[in-house]
Amino acid sequence: MPNQRTRLIAGNWKMNKTYSEGVTLAQDLAYKLSENTDGVEVVVCPPFTDLKGVQSVMEMDAAPFHLGAQNVYWQESGAYTGEISCDMLKNVGCTYCIVGHSERRDYFGETDQDINKKIKALLSAGIKPISCCGESLEVREANNQVAFVVNQIKEDFKDVTLKSGDDVVVAYEPIWAIGTGKTATPEDAQEVCGAIRETLRDIFGADIADGIRILYGGSAKPENIAGFLECEDVDGALVGGASLKADDFSLMVERSV
Ligand code: 13P
Repeated sequence: MPNQRTRLIAGNWKMNKTYSEGVTLAQDLAYKLSENTDGVEVVVCPPFTDLKGVQSVMEMDAAPFHLGAQNVYWQESGAYTGEISCDMLKNVGCTYCIVGHSERRDYFGETDQDINKKIKALLSAGIKPISCCGESLEVREANNQVAFVVNQIKEDFKDVTLKSGDDVVVAYEPIWAIGTGKTATPEDAQEVCGAIRETLRDIFGADIADGIRILYGGSAKPENIAGFLECEDVDGALVGGASLKADDFSLMVERSV
């Protein structure tokens, strides 16, 4: 029986697009997506400096997507130079926020404990975390991907309470497939996403866990999106490179309908 979860396609622009380039991309997307989003939820996650501009486009063009940030700090306010709070994100219209991306873990030393605090702060603020997990090539070659990712999920969601499965999204992004052109196969994705679902059931109970969207990320593109969506526990994609081109990203949304 097909599951009842609404598919979700999220674009992570990473550190790309100046303010004006971001506005242009958002306008192109608003135009291209206007007829293609039936039953699919779309989220765009621009850099902080583009959020306000993209929000303005969303309001003016009635764009059929939601706004997400790529990171957040868990403190409410104060002397945390360079950081951005949940309130600040909410104030510019963010309803989603990526946390725990492997690039943040690897380049900026983020730990599962940091990610856990960010998830809790976002939930208190009413913003939905898109919580990322995924193994390195080394872990995959040792065939330890399931245990590794299950442990990340347990740590990242420790003592988290959810009212519904719709409160959070999990993104499985094998690091070796990010920006490399090397994709996991749908079978690879299902193996880990199925284990993620089981772990979420253990933590939150089946009623809630079965409503949590799990995305695949890592060189996802128009040509391979359909294969991932056939997997029982894959409910969409977190898209990097292909989200920077309105044509490719809208095609991915269209192919997810
Ligand atoms: P690519 O789609 O460019 O491989 O990036 C995936 C990703 O890291 C999305 O968060």
